[in-house]
Amino acid sequence: MTRKVIFEFLTNMRNTVLLFLLILGLSGCEFFALSFAPGKEPLADNSELANQASKVFWETLHQGDYSNISKPMTLLKAAYLQNPYDAKIAARIGFLHAWSLTERQRLKNIPPQITDNAILARKYFEEAVRLNPEDARYLGFHSSMMMSEGSIHKDAYLTRKGYFQGLDSIEAWPQFNLFTIGYTMSSKEHSDPKFREAVDMQWENIDKCIDDTIDRNNPDFSNYFEMESSEKRESYKRACWNSWIAPYNLQGFFMNFGDMLVKEGKPEIARKIYQTAMDHPDFETWPYKEYLIRRIENADQNVEKFRANNNPSADVNDSTIMIKTTFGCMGCHQN
Ligand code: HEC
Repeated sequence: MTRKVIFEFLTNMRNTVLLFLLILGLSGCEFFALSFAPGKEPLADNSELANQASKVFWETLHQGDYSNISKPMTLLKAAYLQNPYDAKIAARIGFLHAWSLTERQRLKNIPPQITDNAILARKYFEEAVRLNPEDARYLGFHSSMMMSEGSIHKDAYLTRKGYFQGLDSIEAWPQFNLFTIGYTMSSKEHSDPKFREAVDMQWENIDKCIDDTIDRNNPDFSNYFEMESSEKRESYKRACWNSWIAPYNLQGFFMNFGDMLVKEGKPEIARKIYQTAMDHPDFETWPYKEYLIRRIENADQNVEKFRANNNPSADVNDSTIMIKTTFGCMGCHQN
């Protein structure tokens, strides 16, 4: 009897050990297979298709031709399938999805699947970062899209991951990513500490552009306009000024920052920040200047409007912060 019990015990024991070894072997196998999966090596694409895609991409973006996003999208995706190793192509697909999502108010009826753009943008920026980790603009947009996707799907892990990677992207290129990450967080509730952090990011963005500390109570940025011509175009500080890529970057930056200050409850300071966009010589030709003029007039009334989350009104562009308008991207990029 005792012998039988001992025998059974040993048999069970052996089975357990075998099972354990089997699991270890399998997972070890998976571990090695995954660890040694070949990475993607970048390869720039100079094919006719890629060049055509790039041309149509810039035309569509600079003309603000939102309703025709599918044209560059189709060309870029065809080019990507032909060569999935070009970081620029992957990133441009990501930018188009981000644009579709951000300016969705342009659509008469916004379908729920508009949110899928966040997933796709995140995926293509992930590829772009993998192929060119040096371009911190891709890292910033990847982080931003992770936050958007996390927020849509109530995936707190993804939202936090996006935020912390966003901090890394800021370290890599503060003049570009303090704006990008803070802009993404501008739609948080005005009482949310993350919203206040987003406002601080905009102040700090200015400081990083002028290598100085701007007066938070009485900001006068126009003193620094002369830096625009002397800043080297290839330096990080090019993200502080207007350029071929973003012809009204300065106007868009100061419009959004004014909006965020209004939402924070500081319309007085916001008016000074809005004024900067107006004082700059490119203001006259800016396609969105009328909106800015009205924002200066209505700054006080806009505090409550900008804080309210849902404004299903017809005048969405005058009653919401910039990231929720139809010019959330075009405010800076349209010619
Ligand atoms: C406050 C102004 C501003 C806003 C708003 C803005 N951008 Fe930009 N964008 C810039 C600046 C500045 C650059 C960097 C220019 C440079 O690298 O010289 C840039 C770069 C880009 C590029 C060029 C990337 C490349 O490969 O050269 C694209 C595309 C782009 N943004 C798309 C978007 C989209 C889509 C949105 C909306 C989700 C958006 N931007 C919102 C200012 C802005």
